[in-house]
Amino acid sequence: MQLKDKVILVTGAASGIGRQTCLSLAARGARIHASDIDRDGAAETCRRIEAEGGRASFLHHDVTQPEAWRDVMQVIERQNGRLDGLVNSAGLMVVRPFQQTDFELYRRQQTVNVDSVWLGCQAAQSLLARAAEESGGASIVNLSSILGLKGGSMHSAYCTSKGAVRLLTKALAIEMGKLKIRVNSVHPGLVETPLGLGSMTDMIKYGAPLPSLDAAVSMVAQRTPLGRAAQPLDVANVIAFLCADESQYVTGSELTVDGGFSAQ
Ligand SMILES: NC(=O)c1ccc[n+]([C@@H]2O[C@H](COP(=O)([O-])OP(=O)(O)OC[C@H]3O[C@@H](n4cnc5c(N)ncnc54)[C@H](O)[C@@H]3O)[C@@H](O)[C@H]2O)c1
Repeated sequence: MQLKDKVILVTGAASGIGRQTCLSLAARGARIHASDIDRDGAAETCRRIEAEGGRASFLHHDVTQPEAWRDVMQVIERQNGRLDGLVNSAGLMVVRPFQQTDFELYRRQQTVNVDSVWLGCQAAQSLLARAAEESGGASIVNLSSILGLKGGSMHSAYCTSKGAVRLLTKALAIEMGKLKIRVNSVHPGLVETPLGLGSMTDMIKYGAPLPSLDAAVSMVAQRTPLGRAAQPLDVANVIAFLCADESQYVTGSELTVDGGFSAQ
């Protein structure tokens, strides 16, 4: 999967899946714009890419702010004049029993996980369309979750957000098809990142019957047909496929990356 000279913006680039996606796309030749609200983390992602001979620049970016999206697109237009890919990975996960999830927390979950994707797809469309016209296609990859496909205890706010990302993706795939912009969602199971492991810790805190974080991760591994939780690279490889021309006829699809967990 070659991504040579494709210009790709990855949000949530300071950590976890977003960081690994930046590294994996850059290793395949993409020029990365790594954005995050966490300056130091995203700058560190760029340092790692450059240390391996790749090209990356850091953008400080709060994905919940419409004007921040406008600024980011202006920088990309100035520097590259086009955008071949957008990976919406920034996110957070609220884990709380339903009756303890106050409305403010619920709203914050939707703002960070859903409004950001809406704003990002809208802000990026014209630069993506320009790239698609020049090279035959452009790609948006939205991070949903297996919790956007099925319910989970203590995850009412998160499931709401990831279910919305799934259908927003399909709606945009239909509307953007004529522009040759493909739009797909990726649905990981448990990935060992600060967010994934933090969610397990929170489940224990709010009463899940598990003795420790290690026990929780092993329980997921035992219930997963492939016998382990995911690493960020497992997800980044799939995102690379969806950004590359090899997936040129794939749009509106939902790709699970969960070792078979949700097939059961
Ligand atoms: N880790 C998992 O188990 C898992 C499973 C399924 C889906 N996902 C999804 O994958 C995506 C990435 O998760 P991860 O595990 O890499 O998480 P992570 O916590 O490692 O990274 C998330 C990044 O998003 C950034 N971020 C948060 N709010 C932001 C904002 N307002 N503006 C800009 N950046 C912001 C954080 O600073 C962080 O760098 C998320 O959308 C998450 O819901 C994760």
